[in-house]
Amino acid sequence: MSLRRAKISGVGRYLPDYILTNAELEKFVDTNDEWIRSRTGIAERRLLKDPKKATAFMAAEAAKEALKDAGVEPSEIEAIVVATVTPDYFFPATAALVQKKIGAVNAYGFDLSAACSGFLFALSNGAMMIEAGRAKKVLVIGADKMSSIIDYEDRTTCILFGDAAGAVVLEISDSDEGFIDFIHHTDGDEECSLYQPGGGSLNPATVETVESKLHYIRQDGRVVFKKATEGMADVSLEIMTKNGLTGEDVDWLVPHQANLRIIDATARRMGLSKEKVMINIEKYGNTTAATIPLCLYDWKDKLKDGDNVILAAFGGGLTWGASYLKWSKK
Ligand code: ACO
Repeated sequence: MSLRRAKISGVGRYLPDYILTNAELEKFVDTNDEWIRSRTGIAERRLLKDPKKATAFMAAEAAKEALKDAGVEPSEIEAIVVATVTPDYFFPATAALVQKKIGAVNAYGFDLSAACSGFLFALSNGAMMIEAGRAKKVLVIGADKMSSIIDYEDRTTCILFGDAAGAVVLEISDSDEGFIDFIHHTDGDEECSLYQPGGGSLNPATVETVESKLHYIRQDGRVVFKKATEGMADVSLEIMTKNGLTGEDVDWLVPHQANLRIIDATARRMGLSKEKVMINIEKYGNTTAATIPLCLYDWKDKLKDGDNVILAAFGGGLTWGASYLKWSKK
């Protein structure tokens, strides 16, 4: 008996209208367009300016588009997994807010926190529900309102991040195509090299935590850069080797969009030419859990059934991983 596989049957996204360009950033922090482009590859990012809207709003909009693309009714969805580090509330989960907004009356849902690797971890959870025969249709969303945890006086972080959401519908594949493999890693040794110190149960919000700016992202950029460059390339090679793939066999790399130099290093180690690598960091910056579905959305018309696709990510935790997908929308 062949293994039941999950496939992506629909893709959607939400991008806020407001565009924060490098030129605009130059007005309030000591930086410049040349530095940002050459060190990161980013030219602009989107910010959700409406104070009444947050991650669940973006997630629901992306989900609606993904459902339409798949031709699936909200009532058919059995589970919703939302990857985010910027939930509307600590609880209830963003997935519950999305469930209501889209009218997924038969779904249960939960949030998953794995920073920039969140979407990949959520994908494997959704795929496993389908492989195990526990669900037929699952919604997986990566959504982050990064502007809610960014200090726009800190030039080392505010240039990097943007707000967005991406969503996919997972269904049972009718063929041997679909998700073939996942590899995930977590290493808590570097918990403080990329984190938000305040607001959790260790440092609950007080006047002091706010004054000390503990509710914003803190990172040691050089440590994260080094670990991400090694980790994303290593895990991508690991999944290729495990599945007998060479650079020639891989049609697409869908990398988390943190820094163009990290993406280039990964593609080089995999032996891939530039045309096989999905890169849109220039337009959106690092949208944390949303980067991978935003790429799938931008490239959806170029993906062909049977294409060998490697998805790879690295993020806070530290967390990293890769998945091997044989593309099929059939
Ligand atoms: N504009 C101008 N100069 C700056 C800026 C800025 N925005 N930010 C830092 N600098 C300065 C620094 O102060 C430093 O000056 P100094 O040499 O006088 O001390 C100089 O530029 C070089 O700083 P570095 O930190 O060494 O610069 P680097 O080349 O490492 O680039 C960056 C910094 C872009 C943050 C890089 O380290 C990086 O991308 N790290 C990964 C971080 C990341 O992506 N985190 C997101 C989440 S994790 C993930 O998604 C993988």
